[in-house]
Parts: sequence; structure tokens; C-alpha cells
Amino acid sequence: MTTLRLPGLIDVHVHLREPGGEHKEDLTSGTAAALAGGVTTVLDMPNNYPPVTGSSTLESKRRAAAGKALCDVGFYVGATATNAAEAAGLAGQAAGLKIYLDETYGPLRIQDPSAPAGHGLAALLGHFSTWPADRPIAVHAEGLSMAIAIGLARTFGRKLHVCHVSLASEIALIRAAKRSGARVSCEVTPHHLFLTEDDERRLGALGQMKPALASAADMAALWDNLDVVDCIATDHAPHTLAEKQGDSPPPGVPGLETMLPLLLTAVAQGRLTQARLVELAYQAPRRIFGLAAQADTWLDIDPDARYSLGSRELHTRCGWTPFEGMSVQGRLRRVVLRGETVFEDGRIAARPGSGRPIVPAAPGRNAQNAGSAGP
Ligand code: NCD
Ligand code: ZN
Ligand code: ZN
Ligand code: ZN
Repeated sequence: MTTLRLPGLIDVHVHLREPGGEHKEDLTSGTAAALAGGVTTVLDMPNNYPPVTGSSTLESKRRAAAGKALCDVGFYVGATATNAAEAAGLAGQAAGLKIYLDETYGPLRIQDPSAPAGHGLAALLGHFSTWPADRPIAVHAEGLSMAIAIGLARTFGRKLHVCHVSLASEIALIRAAKRSGARVSCEVTPHHLFLTEDDERRLGALGQMKPALASAADMAALWDNLDVVDCIATDHAPHTLAEKQGDSPPPGVPGLETMLPLLLTAVAQGRLTQARLVELAYQAPRRIFGLAAQADTWLDIDPDARYSLGSRELHTRCGWTPFEGMSVQGRLRRVVLRGETVFEDGRIAARPGSGRPIVPAAPGRNAQNAGSAGP
């Protein structure tokens, strides 16, 4: 058996659900899922209950992570209509600023659709003019909203990271924006690379998320334009089966444990090179978010193993996957984090506290993890 060794992956878009959604996931179950998926660093979104929008909510999440996380975790701070100054003051402790321009799960949409248009615009102007220019502003901005976000980033000279690009028109916009010199990066999710609206018809609520699964032509456009894609990020957004099967299913699907086998399968099929996989899920995330390398950290993979993805093996609390039954090639055997085996042959071997809260790089310095240096 050959063994493929890769760096521990970085997922810049996950929802660990703590605080307020611990019945879906928490800092320990979500980071267990990360390790089981070969991800040793996650950046956690702020759409919690209460949302992370100020120093007290950010600090309590950091403290909880120091005791509970199995892999390293960085935290976004969320934009509200009134917190531009406070959020900017936290830029040194946050992975980035997150702005929700469109309706999705959680309490953080920047513009209440019933409010006058000027309210949302004023809030956006506040954030784009106040957030430090060298730290990323991540946006949930679909369709026309994406053009608005890019226009604002351009106007104020800010660094924009566009979450979960899913449409042919959107990837064309990103290409044009980059060509014009805008400081814009983007991510695509495994579900938009491997599933379409036909799968949504088959899966029902288990195939519903924001942005929604798109057409086969949109999916093909993401693959065809992979050269303008910076990162692959899961948008791991667990909800329980009961919630998904209820009357008003919330949007979102888990993804941490299925990304690596799906990408390894694409490598086996010649649709992606191994070097490009590492660029998309490790190097670019480090560069864009200013993350330090984790010492003595790697993945051991059996690139030949074939199996089907299924809910049996999952560590995410939600216990299901939209990729159920999909045939893949490439199995994660072992994860080593700072010299310690933290996952091996399906079992988590990390202890709560193996992971660390991340402090991002200050301008002109190297990024550092909080606490003592690794071995
Ligand atoms: C996310 C969630 O559930 O937190 N849902 C989703 O459908 N993607 C929110 C988001 O990332 O937009
Ligand atoms: Zn989103
Ligand atoms: Zn998300
Ligand atoms: Zn297990």
C-alpha cells in the first residue's frame, strides 16, 4: 500500500454552532468531524445565538474553544448595522469580518428587507470604511449582492473574500474583478462542485442550503474556472435530521468529513492535481487569512482505497450527509497534529484542548497560535 502524505487541511468556512446550537454541533463534535476529514484548522462563522459581534461574545467563544476544541479554530466577527467600530477593534483577534448581505440561516443579515434601502447601505459603508484594509472581509453575497460587495471593496480598497461561489455568472464576475485588479479571493464548496439541483430534487431538505444547488452548467463552470478559485471550503452547516425533516427546514448541510475523499476522488479521476488540492485547501487559506504553519502536522492517506460515503462513520453531531452512498477513492488513515496522533483508522485520539484558538497575523509579522509554541 502506498501512503500519500499531505499537510493538515484548512477549512475557512465552518459553523461549529456554539453557542446556542449545541444540539446540532459543538466545539468538540465539530472539530472531531474536522479531524476525521483531515482538517486541522477551521475558521468558525459568527451566526450563533447570540451572534459573535463584539468583544464579550468573541472572548467567550475563544475561551470555550481553548477547553473544548480538538483542532485549531479561528473566529470571524459578524457585522451588524451598528457595530463597525467595535468589530474593527477586534480585527487583531478575528479571522475576518463576516457580512451577510442575503437571507440565510442565523440572525446576522445586514439589511432587514423591510427597512429602507439606505439603512443597509449605511451599515455597509460603515464596515467597508472602518475594517482594517489588510484583513479579509468575508461575504455571503449571492448574485447581484456579490457585485455590490466587490464594488464596495474596490471603492474602499478593502480585501474581500467571497464565500461559496455557486453560479457561472458569479465565477465570471470574480474572474473579471480579479483581472481588473480588485483584491478579491473566493471559495467554492464541495457540494457545489459535486451536486446539482437534480440532487436537491432527490434529497429534499437534505439537499437544501444557501446558495442553493445550481444547474449542471453552473457546476461545470466552477470546474472550468477552477483557476480563479482560491479555496475550497466546506460551509459545514449542520442541522439535525428532525430539523431538516420538519415544517420549515433550515438551509445548510454538513461537509467537513466528506471534502477530502471527494477531492481525492477528483485527483484519482484526473479532474484535479494533487498540488492544486493542496493549494486550494491549505496554501491559499494560509495566505489569505494570515495563518501560521502548524509544526509537525500532516495527514497519511491511502490513495487507492475505494468505499462509499455514509452516515455510519460520521463524527458530526447531526449524523447525516448529503453525499450518502457516493463512491469515492482515497481514505484518510491518520492525522498528526503537533506531533500527536489525533485521528487513526476512524477513531478520534485527540483530547479536548488539543486544538488552540488562533490569533491571526498582525500586519508585517508572522501569524501565531495562542499559547505555547508547538513541539
Ligand atoms: C448556513 C448555516 O446554517 O449557518 N447555512 C447555509 O445554508 N449555508 C449559513 C450560511 O453559511 O449561509
Ligand atoms: Zn453563507
Ligand atoms: Zn456558512
Ligand atoms: Zn469515532
